[in-house]
Amino acid sequence: MGLVEVREGTTHFFVPEQDADSSFPPGTGAVFYNRRMELNRDATVLFLRHTDVSSYLDAMGASGARGLRVANECGIPVTINDYNPDAVDLIERNATGFTEEDITVTQADCRVLMGGRRFDAIDLDPFGTPAPFVDGAATSAKRYLFVTATDTAPLCGAHLKAGMRRYGARPLNTEYHSEVGLRVLLGFVAREVVKYDRGIEPLFCFAREHFVRLHLRVTRGAGRADKTVARIGYIHQCPACPERLEEPGIVAGCHICPRCGKRMTPTGPLWLGQVNDRDLIHTMAAGLPSVPLGTSGAIERLLAILGEELDTSTFYNYHRLAKLWHTSPRGMDDVLACLKEGGYEASRTHYDGRGLKTTAPLDVLRECI
Ligand SMILES: C[S@@+](CC[C@H](N)C(=O)[O-])C[C@H]1O[C@@H](n2cnc3c(N)ncnc32)[C@H](O)[C@@H]1O
Ligand SMILES: [Zn+2]
Repeated sequence: MGLVEVREGTTHFFVPEQDADSSFPPGTGAVFYNRRMELNRDATVLFLRHTDVSSYLDAMGASGARGLRVANECGIPVTINDYNPDAVDLIERNATGFTEEDITVTQADCRVLMGGRRFDAIDLDPFGTPAPFVDGAATSAKRYLFVTATDTAPLCGAHLKAGMRRYGARPLNTEYHSEVGLRVLLGFVAREVVKYDRGIEPLFCFAREHFVRLHLRVTRGAGRADKTVARIGYIHQCPACPERLEEPGIVAGCHICPRCGKRMTPTGPLWLGQVNDRDLIHTMAAGLPSVPLGTSGAIERLLAILGEELDTSTFYNYHRLAKLWHTSPRGMDDVLACLKEGGYEASRTHYDGRGLKTTAPLDVLRECI
């Protein structure tokens, strides 16, 4: 295959030539590479520069981009795996210059590999859904699990049946569907992990464009697993108005909208509450200038929002609310200030530039908008 050299962060590697005229150039080479996922990889490099990880498995390496960068830019011993022989040839070529202690290359179905070995951190970066691989990673990952999902339509409720098959959850296509997608994926990973008396703690999770990315700590013991289960629940959305509520628990109750008396629609089970470790987000933001990353500007903006994003499980698109209430909205900063002056918490959200999170009731929000 014809190769071209690329650089991400401070790492150089080869990827297959792609057909630029195709509707999806990353899929046209013998081995997959998507430049648009650079931010996703940059985020993991930054995270790992602030985390003590002793071994890392890039379970689905393709060109090896991710694992090569972790070895080179974070100094962590990595194993890079793929079941495609063309990918393994390319990874081996890209690993020339690294020692065997730095990078081990394997060719296996990652489920078989994870069934027989343990790694301090495991990274799942599949085509589309990670659902078939999380069970294996749940026992193979000693302390950290990272997951990418690019099947945002099933996760967010646009492809309802596929979402229910893959994630055992009923998503709902609402104005906050991108957040539902992230929370459905987190809820699914949580349920896969707690079977083994283990728990998860979300550290650095975000949704962007066509993907969801999770960086999780994996904990041990039935007590931690129970704590994880306690974070699973439902969002109930009124079908007729913007009212919604959160309900923890494995089983969804029945709720009537307090504003219009309609029966609310449950979405879930999904993860409720915190999806980021705010201290870690601030530490990573502070460390960002000393880490050379191609997408550092975008990551800086992302971390700034994540550092203040409220832990409510949904957000409002305030332009939509303004339209519903037949008013032209004030600027976002004014609305946020008004909510805070009223004694409520309020923040922007990374899911949507017009999205707003708040603990205020709808009537207060209406006044502020
Ligand atoms: C989206 S690509 C990975 C991209 C890569 N991590 C990157 O950052 O550029 C998915 C890769 O997973 C590999 N793959 C899919 N299923 C696999 C499995 N069960 N075991 C191992 N590799 C698998 C495919 O061959 C493909 O190379
Ligand atoms: Zn209602």
